[in-house]
Amino acid sequence: MAVIALKSPDIEVRVVDMNEKRIAEWNSDTLPVYEPGLDEVVRTARGRNLFFSTDVDGGIREADIIFVAVNTPTKMYGVGAGKAADLRYIEAVARKIAQVATGPKIIVEKSTIPVKTSETIKDILAANGQAGRMQVLSNPEFLAEGTAVADLFAPDRVLIGGERTPEGQKAVETLASVYARWVPRERIITTNLWSAELSKLVANAFLAQRISSINSVSALCEATGADVDEVAHAIGRDSRIGPKFLKASVGFGGSCFQKDILNLVYLCQRFGLPEVAAYWESVVKMNDWQKARFSSRIVSTLYNSAADKRIAVLGFAFKKDTNDTRETAAINICRDLLAEQAHVVVYDPRVSEAWIRQEVLGAGVENARLTVAKDPYEAARGAHVLAVVTEWDEFKGLDYTRIHESMAKPAHVFDGRNILDLPKLRAIGFRAQGIGKQEPQA
Ligand code: UDX
Repeated sequence: MAVIALKSPDIEVRVVDMNEKRIAEWNSDTLPVYEPGLDEVVRTARGRNLFFSTDVDGGIREADIIFVAVNTPTKMYGVGAGKAADLRYIEAVARKIAQVATGPKIIVEKSTIPVKTSETIKDILAANGQAGRMQVLSNPEFLAEGTAVADLFAPDRVLIGGERTPEGQKAVETLASVYARWVPRERIITTNLWSAELSKLVANAFLAQRISSINSVSALCEATGADVDEVAHAIGRDSRIGPKFLKASVGFGGSCFQKDILNLVYLCQRFGLPEVAAYWESVVKMNDWQKARFSSRIVSTLYNSAADKRIAVLGFAFKKDTNDTRETAAINICRDLLAEQAHVVVYDPRVSEAWIRQEVLGAGVENARLTVAKDPYEAARGAHVLAVVTEWDEFKGLDYTRIHESMAKPAHVFDGRNILDLPKLRAIGFRAQGIGKQEPQA
């Protein structure tokens, strides 16, 4: 929304939320999310044509276009528990709009939602006498965290789905004209509502599937002596495959991939397509296996006993350049190692100690075996293992000779992101392993 305000000074953008604390943060110098470039965008537009407020009713009443960007977490209860999206916030917004709106509106679904959610919104509006005045569009967001601002400035595509009626098409055109202020027209794709809704889930499922595919190959590489980065490079040169999203890792995390695939799986089950459901579910299963495999490789290297050994975990965010930890592989890895009675010391440049503790242990739970270090050197001191879990750039430039000296021997490095120079580390004296790379035999 902030980027729309930045790119269109004549459009007034009001971000409204019931959460007072959140709105106060958006109005302060410390924004509630860390995202490179976002501070500058907000600083430029805030107070000019970008406003943050708790006046939800006023925001709805005065808007021509309402973007709905509420949370759609995985439902944890009742029918579809663990898979289906919990749509209560979407429903609440639809009811609120129905209650407050006095004129025509274009309602834009921005949240990632299951296919046919727009039906729910339309149904609630119609049942409350708002049928004729409202148009519902789907405009899924494809930005990735860490590069969100750049992605919004120059998106691969903008997708807008609307009803195939003259009113629906007019609404699609209105929204397209907002994006057209900075996005070339040929990048603005218009579809019917269901195609737009489904495309978001399928895009994330395809991306995640590539990671699970290369991660499955990483296990085979470790067994055979092939190098997964070489394989990825070789296959990525085929223009039909392409080089992106082929980086083997400890497993994908983030707020979208797992959630959206499980959502897709639930949809397939609901529509009587168990084979399709099983196909996509295997992407998540492979990811779970990859995360577990990383922890168990560490334990087996430690002569099958991590008990009372110190393990330094470098990185906690689900990827670099973000403080987001949702579904990060680091949570599973820390829990696995704590279950093995290891002392786990985490360092992340952007994630706070309190949050790391809460994510691993749960709110209010204590475990003295989990500690958080101020810097990587403190984390490594006395450790048997140094495990790189997030690919922060700063981990590439550390003084590994100094780290080696301070660690217990043999000193092991597990590079869960393949960002370190393993031969160099071995020359220093480390026993170093990557993902999808065989450790040279001694
Ligand atoms: C993703 C989609 O990319 C974006 O289009 C969508 O709108 C939201 O979900 P995001 O979750 O921010 O974005 O991050 P992304 O860069 O896609 O990475 C997701 C996870 O996959 C991270 O944990 C990342 O480390 C991992 N990953 C990514 C790999 O392990 N290997 C890769 O090659 C790429």
